[in-house]
Amino acid sequence: MTIKNILITGGAGFIGSHVVRRFVNLFPNYNIFNLDKLTYAGNLENLKDVENNSNYTFIKGDITDADFIQDLFHKYLFDGVIHLAAESHVDRSISNPLEFVITNVVGTVNLLNAAKTIWHNNYNNKVFYHVSTDEVYGQLGDEGKFLEITAYSPNSPYSASKASSDHFVRAYHHTYGMPIKISNCSNNYGSHHFPEKLIPLMINNIIHNKPLPVYGKGENVRDWLFVEDHARAIDYIFHKGKIGDTYNIGGNNEWKNIELVKFLCALMDAKLGRASGENEKLITYVTDRAGHDFRYAIDASKFMNELGWEPSVTFEQGLEKTVDWYMANSEWLQNVTTGNYQQYYQAMYAKR
Ligand code: NAD
Ligand code: TYD
Repeated sequence: MTIKNILITGGAGFIGSHVVRRFVNLFPNYNIFNLDKLTYAGNLENLKDVENNSNYTFIKGDITDADFIQDLFHKYLFDGVIHLAAESHVDRSISNPLEFVITNVVGTVNLLNAAKTIWHNNYNNKVFYHVSTDEVYGQLGDEGKFLEITAYSPNSPYSASKASSDHFVRAYHHTYGMPIKISNCSNNYGSHHFPEKLIPLMINNIIHNKPLPVYGKGENVRDWLFVEDHARAIDYIFHKGKIGDTYNIGGNNEWKNIELVKFLCALMDAKLGRASGENEKLITYVTDRAGHDFRYAIDASKFMNELGWEPSVTFEQGLEKTVDWYMANSEWLQNVTTGNYQQYYQAMYAKR
């Protein structure tokens, strides 16, 4: 059995932890190295169930530190990279764009440089897989969906930084022959999601009977995918996707924010034993996000046809699993919402 060293960056975050868990459990012939800086969004509690596995190693480190990254690649001679580490929240990117340039762009180029150094002239069986977002395509009106050939048109500092990193990854393929793959996925939801994004924030606020801040009129549309289905999609693309190719991943599951929040309220009325309609009373319309993209929707047919992937759960099933997880893991929720989270929440929502 050939043992391979696989680097997963950002493995302590939301999606990364699901990818690490899947790879550690399914691929005993891989040594999985999880490189994470443990920012506010990274949490080793997300990986308690695999932390003692013999094929798993956690490395605390920063992808923006070029020397450290070069040394790491020389030490472990990685065969594959799955790159998820990023600053990922649009609202934070509006407050602090430069941090997104440094982590998402400079960090990605550091990883590409290190891979190029150790793989140079021997790209056989090597893969640099960059995990990206559908937000690079900009926003849609009422009609249409994003295809892999849709022109990039990022609107937020977050999506601009992700678009830039995608371009660098593609450029390293074109210029240096780097064996890259890219995927652009729609909004994810599921367990271990930091409660600054819509769904976990609303779940947390419903549990604590706090106002539910809906931006603008709540008419913006997102296309939601269960995070474990994204982790499986990443597995398929890492193993079977074509070198140099891009794949769009999505759940074919569009929801207006306000409809989604009302659906969640009703689900949680029942779960929390509250009267029907009780949670909806918490909905509060607040000042819209600056430059708020109206609609995202992914056409994932290329990926589904070529690699035989499809979502494993309906939104109703996935959302119920997610709510159940948060209700059963109040300690996780409490740990991540004490301290800095309170300051973040004050700063982000007091002025809305
Ligand atoms: P997240 O914010 O939950 O996790 C990001 C992780 O990266 C954290 O563990 C953090 O500690 C780590 N990190 C940040 N800066 C770092 C640095 N300088 N060095 C090392 N580690 C660092 O993000 P997520 O939602 O899990 O997203 C993961 C990836 O997937 C991102 O690249 C994001 O753009 C992409 N993506 C996310 C979604 C979504 O809906 N969340 C959808 C499509 C694509
Ligand atoms: P979010 O989860 O931040 O993902 P993204 O902006 O990357 O799509 O937001 C999803 C949608 O929910 C988006 O249209 C903004 C909206 N939203 C709210 O209405 N209220 C909130 O408190 C948050 C965090 C988001």
